[in-house]
Amino acid sequence: MNIGIIGAGLIGGTLARRLSLLNHKVTIANSRGPETLKDLATEINVKAGTAYEAARNNDIAVITIPQKNIADLPKDLFEGVKDDVIVIDTCNYYPLLRDGVIAELEHDLTNSEWVQAKIKKPIVKTFNSIPYTSLGDAGRPKGDKNRIALPVSGDRKKDKEAVSDLLDQLGFDFFDVGELKNSWKYEPGTPTYCMDFNLETLKNKLNDLGTIRTPEIKANIIEQRTEQEKQFLEYYSKMKK
Ligand SMILES: NC(=O)c1ccc[n+]([C@@H]2O[C@H](COP(=O)([O-])OP(=O)(O)OC[C@H]3O[C@@H](n4cnc5c(N)ncnc54)[C@H](OP(=O)(O)O)[C@@H]3O)[C@@H](O)[C@H]2O)c1
Repeated sequence: MNIGIIGAGLIGGTLARRLSLLNHKVTIANSRGPETLKDLATEINVKAGTAYEAARNNDIAVITIPQKNIADLPKDLFEGVKDDVIVIDTCNYYPLLRDGVIAELEHDLTNSEWVQAKIKKPIVKTFNSIPYTSLGDAGRPKGDKNRIALPVSGDRKKDKEAVSDLLDQLGFDFFDVGELKNSWKYEPGTPTYCMDFNLETLKNKLNDLGTIRTPEIKANIIEQRTEQEKQFLEYYSKMKK
């Protein structure tokens, strides 16, 4: 498949390397231009391109940048892109750590519904709840009882079927969480976020959350997310010393 990746950092770079090894034709892009990605592209055997090249003329386009930077993407990035192109969003909202407060995300909109509204294309949400290290080296054969399962949501069945196949190639199981509006269930601060659970455990824990994000559940998720953000900030500040 032809796969474009907007964002070539920890997740984008890892995904590009793995997909290239699976013989997909990958184009990576960042905010600074293809010349800044030449060395990485050569090393992992992918093409360095612009965000437009990654968004267009591919079967799949992956958006994997800091949530706040979605607002900086060109407004016409996906204009004219064919309807059957699959757009995957891996982004997470971290207001304290990185993104600042985005007013619309403080209410009922999920992280990905906000991205979908900005780029005006149907989105499949996945790869947001696996650490880049596991994405890089924890894939396992189908049937392995420790195979990590990734939650996936989106409003188009056939997009999710294609993503399920891609996850399988990468060595991960797929769990359909339903429509994109359900993606709150695996955002930062939720019980399965970055826990690398297998299919059975993931399924049970996501089902335990129920179908409605009550004010109590929402408050709890925000509390857990904030705690994680504080731990990250403390870790970064120790690293700087
Ligand atoms: N790290 C993880 O383990 C992990 C796991 C799951 C999900 N996520 C989520 O996935 C997203 C990416 O995470 P990451 O850790 O890979 O981030 P990262 O290492 O900081 O990399 C971000 C990438 O996005 C690019 N970028 C930023 N703004 C852009 C723009 N306007 N246009 C094009 N490219 C742009 C950056 O390019 P420049 O350097 O040129 O600006 C960089 O290549 C985040 O939302 C994150 O929360 C991360």
